[in-house]
Amino acid sequence: MNQEIVDALNAQIGHEYENYMLYEQASAYCDDRGLDGAAKLFRKQADGELEHARKVTDYVRDARGKVVIPIIKAQKSEFGSGEEVFLAAFEREKETTAKIYKIRDLAWKAGDHATFEMLTWFVNEQVEEENLTDKLLSVVRGFGEKHLFLIEAYISHLK
Ligand code: FEO
Repeated sequence: MNQEIVDALNAQIGHEYENYMLYEQASAYCDDRGLDGAAKLFRKQADGELEHARKVTDYVRDARGKVVIPIIKAQKSEFGSGEEVFLAAFEREKETTAKIYKIRDLAWKAGDHATFEMLTWFVNEQVEEENLTDKLLSVVRGFGEKHLFLIEAYISHLK
């Protein structure tokens, strides 16, 4: 791997840890409001982000790069509404997708097939993550802030 790709992957590890923290904050927000189903769903998403961070870390190790985890930024802890929480999740997933595409482009240009292939898993994962958060945001918007508890019923029917 060339150093530019190692650096980009290390930055991605940091980004995935930030995703983990954002979802933990979202889970805490929902828990505070008695939205137990949403709190559980965001906790599950947070666990997924830890797996993503480790997946990239393990790849860098296997490919004999040096793992350097960057400084992790504090995440938003105040949300003005339920809609704001779900919007933050959806926006973050779109941002993550853009970052993955960028590193994959770098790998392609460098002829780094191994990194390109490894990132294919993330490309597919992001389709699911964007789909889920976009759907949840639509449902929250549809119910409206006053009927946020209905989202619990919606979440209970998710696979
Ligand atoms: Fe690791 Fe939700 O993207």
